Amino acid sequence: MIQMYQVSKRYPNGALALQNISLVIEKGEFVFLVGPSGAGKSTFMKMIIRRELPTSGRIVVGGRNIVRLRPWEIPRLRRSVGTIFQDFLLLPNKTTYENVAFALEVTETSTREIQRRVPAALELVGLKHKLSARPHELSGGEQQRVSIARSIVNNPLILLADEPTGNLDPGTSWGIMELLSEINKRGTTVLMTTHNRDIVNRMKKRVVALEAGKIIRDDQRGVYL
Ligand SMILES: Nc1ncnc2c1ncn2[C@@H]1O[C@H](COP(=O)(O)OP(=O)(O)O)[C@@H](O)[C@H]1O
Ligand SMILES: [Mg+2]
Repeated sequence: MIQMYQVSKRYPNGALALQNISLVIEKGEFVFLVGPSGAGKSTFMKMIIRRELPTSGRIVVGGRNIVRLRPWEIPRLRRSVGTIFQDFLLLPNKTTYENVAFALEVTETSTREIQRRVPAALELVGLKHKLSARPHELSGGEQQRVSIARSIVNNPLILLADEPTGNLDPGTSWGIMELLSEINKRGTTVLMTTHNRDIVNRMKKRVVALEAGKIIRDDQRGVYL
C-alpha cells in the first residue's frame, strides 16, 4: 500500500529530516511510527500526501510513484489518504455534521450521498447525538472523533494519524485507539505516530522506530522501548 525506496529529505534550510528510508507497509496493516521529537515522523507522513517532496528516492502509494504526480493528480491522492492530527483542525463555526460534510463538499459529492455518508461516519465514531454541536461545545476526545469521522467519510485506503492522542488524557486516548483499531479492522491501512509508550505496548502492532531521520528498528508486534 505504501512503499518507500531510499527516500531522503533535506529541507531548504539544510536540515536532513530523513536519510535513506526504505520501508514497505502492506494493505491492512496497522503501524506505529515512534521516535523522539525531531526524528522525522511528521516529515515521513507529509511525504505520503505530497505536502513535502523527497529530495531523493521513490514513494509508491496505492501502486503509483507519487513523487512524479502532476499537480492536478494530487487531489486524488489526498482523497485516498485520510489524515488526523494532534490539534483537531476543525472549522470553529461549523457544526459536527458540517465539519464532516465539508470533506465531501470539496470533492463535489452529491447532496444525497453526503446525507447518507455523514451520519454513517458519525455513528461509527459514536457522535450521532452531537450533530449540531460546534467544536467549542465538545470535549477534546469528541473533537478528535469528529476529525476522525471527517478523515474516513470518503473511505480512504490509508489513514495517517500524526500524534492523534497528543492532547488527550489517557482514558480518552484509549477510546480513540479502539476507534482507530476498528477502522483498521474494516480494511483501512493505518499509520500512526505517537510518543505514548503505553498505547504502543498495549496494542502489540508493528513498530517502526526513527531516530535522527533513520529507521533504527522495525518489529512486528513490537514495543516502544
Ligand atoms: N518545514 C521545515 N523546514 C525546515 N526544517 C524542518 C521543517 N520541518 C521539519 N524540519 C526539521 O526536520 C527534522 C524532522 O522534523 P519532523 O519531521 O517534524 O520530526 P518529528 O515529527 O519526528 O518531531 C527536524 O530537525 C526539524 O527541525
Ligand atoms: Mg511531528
